[in-house]
Amino acid sequence: MADPTRRGPPDAHASSTGRALTGGDRLDSHFEMARPEYAAQLRAVGIRPGWRVLDAACGSGSFLPWLAELVGPLGALAALDLAPDSAALVERRAPAWALPCPLEVAVGTVLGLPYPDASFDAVWFANTSQYLTDAELATALAEFRRVVRPGSLVALKEADGTLTRILPGPPGLVLRAVVGWAAAGEAQWRGCLRAAALPSWLRRAGFGGVRGRATLIERAAPLDPVTRHHLRNTLIFAAAHAADLDLPAADAALWARLRDPAAVEQFLDDPDFYTSEGNILAVGVVPPA
Ligand SMILES: C[S@@+](CC[C@H](N)C(=O)[O-])C[C@H]1O[C@@H](n2cnc3c(N)ncnc32)[C@H](O)[C@@H]1O
Repeated sequence: MADPTRRGPPDAHASSTGRALTGGDRLDSHFEMARPEYAAQLRAVGIRPGWRVLDAACGSGSFLPWLAELVGPLGALAALDLAPDSAALVERRAPAWALPCPLEVAVGTVLGLPYPDASFDAVWFANTSQYLTDAELATALAEFRRVVRPGSLVALKEADGTLTRILPGPPGLVLRAVVGWAAAGEAQWRGCLRAAALPSWLRRAGFGGVRGRATLIERAAPLDPVTRHHLRNTLIFAAAHAADLDLPAADAALWARLRDPAAVEQFLDDPDFYTSEGNILAVGVVPPA
């Protein structure tokens, strides 16, 4: 398991491609914490029974059982990820999921999908636009548009770095850290700051009927064990990673305090502890060919 105290990216909690925060253990703990809100976001896309759906950048595959429920026995799923270890993990997990429909797993990139034109009824692309540069995001959207049949859907879900808060602490604490990491050249954080604009990215890529909506995932003390486990690791990681940033004194003092795992436990026990995480869902319809 990744060591949460190790100093920040580029490879903290990484999968085999070395991208930060893509390792299966972290993906899973984050997913478990956010489960009800993530399920609601996926249900809001409009995926229908009988559809063939691509889970693009599937990671450890946590969305696949829900996708399978939506498409049912007459549907089909494809799952693709850049990291060979993610694809292998999905292959290993699939039998236990007992999906009602067929699943095809591939290693590949969203920048050049290994599928024919109009071969899907929908693409689900979750928590991964953050890893793409602007030029790569435009390429990925063109690829999604190419592989989905006209009149059907492309859905992007992404964490919005402007909506993450932790309390008690200085207002804007997390946003200033995310902006600092982005300014330091960590492309992933720039991607989280871009999330609110994803509906506009879909419009510019030629999609119609675009809709966008933010969901706030809020958790407050007392925390359940799953949430606590995820937040403990996340706070220790963030505090270590914030050490090099040029921040206001109150921010720097709180991050310095949270570099001590015992202080993190105390922080999470605070009856006033609260955290929110924003997630954008942006859905567009592929125009007629
Ligand atoms: C944060 S994880 C999200 C996984 C999953 N979609 C989820 O929400 O749980 C990001 C995933 O994107 C994959 N990834 C990054 N860049 C990619 C690319 N260009 N093409 C395909 N997958 C990519 C990583 O390997 C990783 O599994």
